[in-house]
Amino acid sequence: MSAAEQIEIRRLGQTEVHAQLDGLAAVLVDCVAGGASVSYLSPFSHEDARAAFDAFAVEVEQGRRLLLAAFANGEVVGTVQVILALPPNQPHRAEIAKLLVHRSARRRGIAQLLMERAEAEARAEGKTLLVLDTVTGDNAERLYERLGWTKVGVIPGYALYPDGRPCDTTIFWKSLTKGDPVELL
Ligand SMILES: CC(C)(COP(=O)(O)OP(=O)(O)OC[C@H]1O[C@@H](n2cnc3c(N)ncnc32)[C@H](O)[C@@H]1OP(=O)(O)O)[C@@H](O)C(=O)NCCC(=O)NCCS
Repeated sequence: MSAAEQIEIRRLGQTEVHAQLDGLAAVLVDCVAGGASVSYLSPFSHEDARAAFDAFAVEVEQGRRLLLAAFANGEVVGTVQVILALPPNQPHRAEIAKLLVHRSARRRGIAQLLMERAEAEARAEGKTLLVLDTVTGDNAERLYERLGWTKVGVIPGYALYPDGRPCDTTIFWKSLTKGDPVELL
């Protein structure tokens, strides 16, 4: 059995997000400490990360966001979110956000498992079009291309790394249907 097969991916409700707050926060803190551009700047504490997931839990409860977590031996090692709440004229669309895998658990296929489950959950919610953005030239770009996402292009200087340096961002999309996502509504 490969390492990835021992990973459990679960969709967490609000209560479970709260129960796993420390594990989720630890993954986020580790990614920011590792230099990932995922909304936050250094210094970024465990308490900051708990507060971030506390806010996500509210949106999970409201049905505005899905939160998935990857567990290895009961410990959270990765997470991803699906943002469902978009403007009324985009009911078929969702956004993937905060794909995070702890540095100690990388290169075992965990991000791929999280993305495959995120797509399945989005499809189950009736979504037919997914969009995401990611730091240009980073590992995640290869992952998205491998999983069949289409690259739109690069926006220079879109965001900052945790240390304040600017970084470019690449936008991707993926249709969850074989036809036109909107016609299938
Ligand atoms: C991007 C990120 C989520 C990838 O997580 P991951 O779990 O390491 O991803 P995977 O294991 O699915 O794939 C990573 C690599 O490991 C390889 N891999 C997968 N399973 C493997 C295994 N069993 N043995 C060896 N290599 C393996 C994949 O082929 C891939 O190779 P590549 O980089 O050459 O394309 C992670 O690096 C991360 O959290 N980065 C910081 C946050 C971030 O940038 N998130 C994206 C924001 S949009």
